[in-house]
Amino acid sequence: MSSKIKVLVCTEGKHCRKKGGKDVYCRLAEQCQTLGVEDKFSIKKSDCLGRCGRGPAVKIKGFKLAYGRVEPGDCKSILKNLLKARKALKRELVKS
Ligand code: FES
Repeated sequence: MSSKIKVLVCTEGKHCRKKGGKDVYCRLAEQCQTLGVEDKFSIKKSDCLGRCGRGPAVKIKGFKLAYGRVEPGDCKSILKNLLKARKALKRELVKS
């Protein structure tokens, strides 16, 4: 599980565009650099992720996980929590 965590941010869907999807995308990219974890994440802009009522929406591929109503201030903790989750998952996979 050395591949990057793939993060999709709805920036192009009508609702998320109005509610700051691009700000969330920019903050996630910025926080990746600040935390020095660019090599662990692939952050991409996306069209509608099917969670319009809870936008801005962020989907994590491979984790079958999505965040709703994300604000730029949430981005640092989202990245940190994803890294913790991946680390915990790796540990569990080694045990079995
Ligand atoms: S417009 Fe963003 S999830 Fe649909």
